[in-house]
Amino acid sequence: MTKRIGILTGGGDAPGLNAVIRAVVLAAKEKYGWEVFGIKQGFDGLLAGTVPIALTEDSVRNLLSRGGTILGAVNKGNPFLKQVKDSAGEYQQMDMALEGVHKIDALGLDALIVAGGDGTMAIAHSLVQHGAKIVGVPKTIDNDLAQTDLTFGFDTAVATATEALDKLQTTAESHHRIMVMEVMGRNAGWIALVSGVAGGADAILIPEIPFDMNKVIQKIEKIRSQGRLYSLIVVAEGAAPISGEQEFYIRGNPMMQGRLGGIGYLVGNRLAEEENVDVRVTVLGHVQRGGQPTPRDRWLATRFGALAVELVAQEKWGYMLGLNGNLMSPVLMELAVAQNLVEVNGQMMQVARSIGISFGD
Ligand code: F6P
Repeated sequence: MTKRIGILTGGGDAPGLNAVIRAVVLAAKEKYGWEVFGIKQGFDGLLAGTVPIALTEDSVRNLLSRGGTILGAVNKGNPFLKQVKDSAGEYQQMDMALEGVHKIDALGLDALIVAGGDGTMAIAHSLVQHGAKIVGVPKTIDNDLAQTDLTFGFDTAVATATEALDKLQTTAESHHRIMVMEVMGRNAGWIALVSGVAGGADAILIPEIPFDMNKVIQKIEKIRSQGRLYSLIVVAEGAAPISGEQEFYIRGNPMMQGRLGGIGYLVGNRLAEEENVDVRVTVLGHVQRGGQPTPRDRWLATRFGALAVELVAQEKWGYMLGLNGNLMSPVLMELAVAQNLVEVNGQMMQVARSIGISFGD
């Protein structure tokens, strides 16, 4: 019997989402002759009853290299948790997950594939508990999902950040400046660590290791005393000083309320105060989320998409694909929600330290 599969992309976008959509459509058609329908605007679109679009081989042509998601994405929490006033005028949280399940049924979908990060997996898990037939594909540039070694989007973000660092290096060298580059990653330091090592950073500050500014200053002074008059520092947006807190763009910037960021400027200002050197700060921001996925991300996304169709065939509801070594296998969505952070004593960190990179500790 022909199945009708729905697909949606949840949370923030990441390069490779379109490649997942393409792989789902092609694998579903090629192997099973199933039809695929795209739900626009993530779970918000599902709840709003937006009519899904039929996705054919024609409509996914040329999607491999395209950044973003043709289905749109919403990054605003769980639309199934509504605040409703009770008879006493108090606001209560109402879980509308069951309505979500009814919406999937009303669309005549036999299963739903969701590509997303921890928020998306948490929502999907709750819908599955209410009877929905959902499987998941892990997505995020932050690479912070548990149960998978890698998420697609990460490699592209790292490539963008590394290229930016390469560019900062040449101008830093010309002007004898300290360049501070702030990168994304939420509470995980993966983008900072991998791009920092790849781009030759002298210091990398990550959320997993509270940093001491004096140690960073010592590192910069050591480099200068050895005759190199420029240096590069990568700061993860979630990094925080010892006995300090993470920085949010709250002050004077209501648009960015609640968004991690600004730590790069704190680090830069402190260096400018302490050192008689020019310091410049670059906040890379959403450049890291956009653009063409790298070949590695296209491959990863294609594997995730094609194998998600197999999860549907096996009726593995509530499971997501996880990459373990070089093998992809089903893992429970509810477990993926835990954070995958940089192992502070792991081999990658040891290598970085062994070549003299400071982590401010
Ligand atoms: O999770 C991906 C991510 O890009 C984080 O690295 C960053 O903190 C956040 O999303 C930014 O979210 P928004 O696009 O909503 O500003």
